[in-house]
Parts: sequence; structure tokens; C-alpha cells
Amino acid sequence: MKIFKSKKTFHDYIERQREMGKKIGFAPTMGALHQGHISLYEAASKENDLVISSIFVNPTQFNNAADLEKYPRNVEKDLKILENSNFVDAVYLPEVSDLYPNGLQSKSYDFDGLENEMEGKFRPGHFNGVGTVVEELLRQAQPDHAYFGEKDFQQLAIIKKLVEKLKLPVKIHGVAIYREANGLAMSSRNERLSSEQREASKVIHETLLKVNEWFRIITISEINQRVKEIFEDQRGMVLEYFEIADEQTLKETDFFYAGHQYRAFIVVFVNDVRLIDNVHLD
Ligand code: PAJ
Repeated sequence: MKIFKSKKTFHDYIERQREMGKKIGFAPTMGALHQGHISLYEAASKENDLVISSIFVNPTQFNNAADLEKYPRNVEKDLKILENSNFVDAVYLPEVSDLYPNGLQSKSYDFDGLENEMEGKFRPGHFNGVGTVVEELLRQAQPDHAYFGEKDFQQLAIIKKLVEKLKLPVKIHGVAIYREANGLAMSSRNERLSSEQREASKVIHETLLKVNEWFRIITISEINQRVKEIFEDQRGMVLEYFEIADEQTLKETDFFYAGHQYRAFIVVFVNDVRLIDNVHLD
């Protein structure tokens, strides 16, 4: 696996690969890698000649300095995980100046309102930061295909919108949420849970599965009420939000319209650890 630590060397490598006609698959990360990330590279390896990773903890997408400070960083361990997966050909480890030559500042995007729903309400500025770094990474890596997890479904929708609006020549793929054995969505943040908390947190996914059973049987306001009650009974857990939203617009719905696809979205704090999950309703 090749490792690139500067824009210049990475750029030269990409240009060479493109001249050779290699089809490039790319998935950016912020490190603290786990099986969920590797599932993106497994998907990429099936439809590309070359699979590229990047690791960069992007300061502009964090809402506060403490959160950025707390973000787990262990590049050596991450490189081993990528290497051992056997799916990844090259990894880009840019410096801030490689991605932000004019200083750490976000662009301001119009994602047709997608940015104002759910995470957008709770994390102001977050999606401008994500958009800025992903746009630059896509321009540098020049992939044919790029892969993002459905775990961050709103981020995935926003990146599809970014690519469409900027007419970037890349196809964006969503990859299903990779879960722990008990159903908990895999996340770097799970490491901050005790083993008891990790076990108790399976209630998040279990609740989403129940919502899928209740879907179209009881009303949405009844579903919302039941979800609220489930988390009122969980010690050490606080429900930040639960919403059933249209998969296209990400707008919360209070009624199921024929021909629309819906998804249930949830964010729960387990003490100070913020866990996010979603399921498609069928
Ligand atoms: P990060 O949280 O490191 O996630 C990198 C990619 O892995 C994202 O596309 C995310 O949705 C995906 N992912 C994380 N956990 C997953 C799981 N359990 N199953 C499937 N996919 C999973 O998301 C970011 O970084 C950043 O916002 C980034 C896009 C890199 C921009 O900075």
C-alpha cells in the first residue's frame, strides 16, 4: 500500500494512474478506522482497478474546539488496518495546507435545503465544512467512483447534491451500515462506551426495527410517542431527536404518501457519546 503525505506526490501518482486508464475508487475518512470503513473499500474493490483511502480530521466540520480535540487519532494503527484489509492500494494523508491553501475556512453551499434538516439543525455549519473538504478531496483524487456510508445518510445525500451541482465527474455510491453483532451501528465513538453501555446501546437499532414494524400500521405521531417512551426508560441515555423523513428531501413527514420512500433517523446520547443511526422503512 502506497502512502502519500503531500498534495504534490499524491497528484503525480493520480495523474500516472489516470494516464494508464485505471478506474479509481475512493472513500475519504477521518481515521479511527473500523470495519464500517473497510466495508467501503470492499465495495470499491469490486468495481475499480485502484482503491484509494484518505485520512484527514477536518477541522471545519466540527462545531466546537473540544469535539475536534477529543477526536481519536492513531494514524499508525489506521495504516495497519488499511494494509491488513487488502482492499486498499494507496492512502492520502494530507496536511491542512494541502486542502486549505487559503486557511481553514468553509465555503458556503446551497444543498437545496438538505443542509437545514436533522444534523443541520443540531450542528450548524457542519455540512459546509463537510462539503468544502469533500469537494477538494474529490478534485484531488479524481475518482470514477466514491463511496460513503449510509450511516451518515444526510451526508451521503448532501454529497450527491454537491456532485450534481458542481458537475463533478464522479459517481457517488451509498454503502449499507455495518453493525456490531448486537446491531449497534459501528462507529469510532463506540470505543468510548463501557462494555455495559455498548450492550445497552443495542436498544437504538432495536427501536428502529420496531419502528419498521409499526410503519403504516400506526400513525407517525404514535410512533414518535412510543420511541420517546422507550428512551425515557433507558438509564444514561437521552434521545436528541427521532424523525421519520422522506428519503429524497430529508424533510420530516407526519403522513405517509404513496410513491415516496421513508427512513427513520435517530440520535441518542449515551452519557456524553453521541450515537447516530437510521433504517430504511419498508
Ligand atoms: P468518518 O466518520 O471517518 O466516516 C468515513 C466514511 O465511513 C463515511 O462515509 C461514513 O458514513 C462511513 N462509515 C462510518 N461508519 C460506518 C458504518 N458503520 N457502516 C458503513 N459506513 C460507515 O464521515 C466522515 O468521516 C467525514 O465527514 C468525511 C466524509 C471524511 C469528510 O471529512
